[in-house]
Amino acid sequence: MNSQPINIGLIGFGTIGSGVIEIFNQNLDLIQKKVGKEVNLKKIVDLDIETDRGVEISSDKLSTDVKDILEDPEISIVIELIGGYEPARSFIIKALENGKHVVTANKALLAKHWEEITATAERNNVRISFEASVGGGIPLLQPLNESLAANNFEGIYGIINGTANYILTKMSEEGLKFDDVLKEAQEKGYAEQDPTFDIEGHDTAQKLIILTMLGFGNYVTQEKFHVEGITKITPQDIEFTSKTLRYVTKLLGISRKVGNELEVRVHPTLIPKTHLLASVNDVFNGVYMVGDAVGPVMMYGQGAGMMPTASAVVGDCIDIISNSQKGITYGPPQSRETPVKNMDNVISRYYIRLTALDQPGVLHKISGILSEYNISLESVNQEQNEAEPSLPIFMVTHEASEKNINAALSQIDELKEITAPSLFIRILDE
Ligand code: HSE
Repeated sequence: MNSQPINIGLIGFGTIGSGVIEIFNQNLDLIQKKVGKEVNLKKIVDLDIETDRGVEISSDKLSTDVKDILEDPEISIVIELIGGYEPARSFIIKALENGKHVVTANKALLAKHWEEITATAERNNVRISFEASVGGGIPLLQPLNESLAANNFEGIYGIINGTANYILTKMSEEGLKFDDVLKEAQEKGYAEQDPTFDIEGHDTAQKLIILTMLGFGNYVTQEKFHVEGITKITPQDIEFTSKTLRYVTKLLGISRKVGNELEVRVHPTLIPKTHLLASVNDVFNGVYMVGDAVGPVMMYGQGAGMMPTASAVVGDCIDIISNSQKGITYGPPQSRETPVKNMDNVISRYYIRLTALDQPGVLHKISGILSEYNISLESVNQEQNEAEPSLPIFMVTHEASEKNINAALSQIDELKEITAPSLFIRILDE
């Protein structure tokens, strides 16, 4: 074994940080054999070093002063696991400037400060690795960036938020309402007390920015694409689309090349039950990618949690130790300028739910407006219930543009016979 130990500093002694320490405690021999070097988790920095996290660590390794890592010339790899924008950004930049490789799970920071962070790494000839930032423990980014680098990607489709996927799975399996499942998920600790980020699609969007960067070489910031959450979906939508149309509802992050443009979007999507992504349930994540040479590939596994995420973090450290001379590559640079398609011009088939008074002539008015916007219907179903004055109408359209669907539905929602706002869900036809 090489006599010089590789020293690692860990900033952030939270859940994932504890998982990282646990892996080094349990598997150090194996890790050292794999890299052929002595590896030493030299310092762990956190503001709170008193609370017992249930992992064994000698107290002389703990510090509250981040300089003990950032300014220690013996530490060559810094793991950042505090999350958020600041002070995480400053710590990462400082570590890179001091010639240290950085491993992080911080998708929010990467999504917002991608250019600054990667340029700083390049300038200082060190690596920034972030396998844990998308899909937790799933080996996803490195295969996308390296093993699949020979491909021009046609599309990347990701179920990359476990909270939203858990809620949609439960709604589907148990016929429950969104609010009731969310409450139960919060009680069980599966969903955050403030779940906005997960259920409104922002977490998926940040992860999609990273996937888009690696797959297509485009850094597309969140303001440039459509992000929509799952809060408006009802058990009625799930039941009808599942039983009658044979689809499952998933919150999907989509990046795909259509003609000379890139479509980047996050929204609930109806996926045929026969599609591989349809079997990604509960808190699991799945990313389905189509390359021109490899064809379809799907990665599946645990997208969050202490040990799966720590597995990806330590894997990045091992990779850096084994390949630390290698530079960094992020997607095919020639496609960086591919324009992002305006959402108005995106074409899909749509499932539509309208709520209308059960009166003669209503369907006639609705179909008149749809045809005004060049929207043709594939199917129409109306529930029968004489006790209810208002009834849902479920429709599936042929292909139409977002612009036309939005305009037609705003006009339909103004009809006096329409008693609740309409909803539409895009259908995945890939
Ligand atoms: N909150 C995320 C999820 C996990 O629900 O999948 C961290 O990325």
